[in-house]
Amino acid sequence: MTDEKRLQTLAVDIGGSGIKVMVLDENGKPLTERDRVETPHPAKPEPVIAAVVGLAKGKAFDRVSVGFPGVVKAGVTKTAVNLDPDWLNVDLADVLSQQLGTPVRVINDADMQGLGAIEGQGVELVITLGTGVGGALFLDGKLVPNLEPGHHEFRKGDTYEQQLGNAALEDIGKRKWNDRLSKAIASLEHLFNYDTLYIGGGNAKCVTLDLPQNAKIVPNVTGLLGGIALWREEKS
Ligand code: BGC
Repeated sequence: MTDEKRLQTLAVDIGGSGIKVMVLDENGKPLTERDRVETPHPAKPEPVIAAVVGLAKGKAFDRVSVGFPGVVKAGVTKTAVNLDPDWLNVDLADVLSQQLGTPVRVINDADMQGLGAIEGQGVELVITLGTGVGGALFLDGKLVPNLEPGHHEFRKGDTYEQQLGNAALEDIGKRKWNDRLSKAIASLEHLFNYDTLYIGGGNAKCVTLDLPQNAKIVPNVTGLLGGIALWREEKS
């Protein structure tokens, strides 16, 4: 076994309600339990970064993968609708790397979730249902980064996130939310003509509708398991 093979990755999922971490081996297998703290409010960069550093303490890892709930380009955060406006243009990869002393890669949370969920064949679409609504699109395993269905118009002048985010679920209840979700699935299928749809995120557990054959629920932990894929390209 080479040194590279023994690398341990700290996977971090920054969410609107919780920040979760887990250490993965080189194959993406969990080496620790999932650890979680509440997302600080207001969710400004400093306390959120401090929370990640706090969760990393006492854990052994060589590199870090972060899923962030907004658009991320080259490790720099560009939006964070469900966190705080102060996240505009924060070089999160660089700041965390300095504080943790290891290389850090940051991508959108739904992209990371997707990397953990997909099979790598055909057109695969991932949607995440949590505080916000996220999405990730893949062709033969290659990611189209920063798809933002959540802020795209869905129906009645509302976005997918306004209709299906956590606030909407609490407001209208599970039955109506499932009705809306089935309309959303139909709309997304018409738009993307995907081969497979994966539904993840903390509220995927509330899905009770009969899903079409090409759609499946993925467990929330997938958001962390995708953390290993961020480093795969380096091997080739
Ligand atoms: C953000 C997305 C994110 C999603 C889920 C949305 O509000 O714009 O980037 O993936 O929430 O966290």
